[in-house]
Amino acid sequence: MKQSARRSPRFPWLATRTAKWVVGCFLALPLLFILNAVVMEFRLPGSGLGPDPGQELVERLGDWAIRMLCFTLAISTLSRLLKVPLLVQHRRTFGLWAFTYVCLHFIGYAVTLAGLDITTIFGDFTKRPYIIFGLIALSLMIPMAITSTRGWRRKLGLNWRRLHRVVYIIAVCAVIHLWLQERASIQETLLYGSILSLLLIERLVRWITKLVQRKNYASSTN
Ligand code: HEM
Repeated sequence: MKQSARRSPRFPWLATRTAKWVVGCFLALPLLFILNAVVMEFRLPGSGLGPDPGQELVERLGDWAIRMLCFTLAISTLSRLLKVPLLVQHRRTFGLWAFTYVCLHFIGYAVTLAGLDITTIFGDFTKRPYIIFGLIALSLMIPMAITSTRGWRRKLGLNWRRLHRVVYIIAVCAVIHLWLQERASIQETLLYGSILSLLLIERLVRWITKLVQRKNYASSTN
């Protein structure tokens, strides 16, 4: 009898709907803690977010935005290193949560720091370089979030991969956004900068290796 050459992937439960829900709910936890702090702040000023609640809210949401971005990029690397391809099934959930935290971070800024004043917001866009880089990252995330569905992936074919490479530009902009801030600590910038650099270097090495292999194969068949 002919045996099937295909081996079933490791940890098949990773591809289940339940696993996707569990991951999604887990990634919502930081937001629940932040919302709880906001409610506490409304009940008793100073109790949930400290002496500068607006600033604290924007910073907490910004921290989770960059962490989610790191997780999203780490998923593919981890799936390759651990040889668990099904991990990639959760990349979209991580990416959409990264987008959610970035949007809330922006809304937090617009409401609490800029007081929903369009002149202040536009003034910041033109005067503060770190805001410009934040905005570039946010704007680039919008087409990625919209086209993250299976339907769009099918429709765009190879261009989908090309479009989603924009995540690397987003990562670079996020680090520059952090680096240009006077208040952000150098340790924080170095931490996220190193994590994102390592994840990008891993991809670069893989890309070069594939290119060399393809060249070697082509020269061996000629
Ligand atoms: C991918 C997009 C973005 C990421 C990953 C991100 C991430 C961060 C992080 C990690 C911080 C520092 C938090 C801390 O000090 O603990 C921060 C601060 C901040 N971000 Fe963003 N951000 C993004 C986009 C934006 C956008 C679009 C805006 C507004 C237009 C914005 C406005 C701010 C402001 C006002 C601060 C506080 C700066 C200060 O402390 O003086 N960010 N962001």
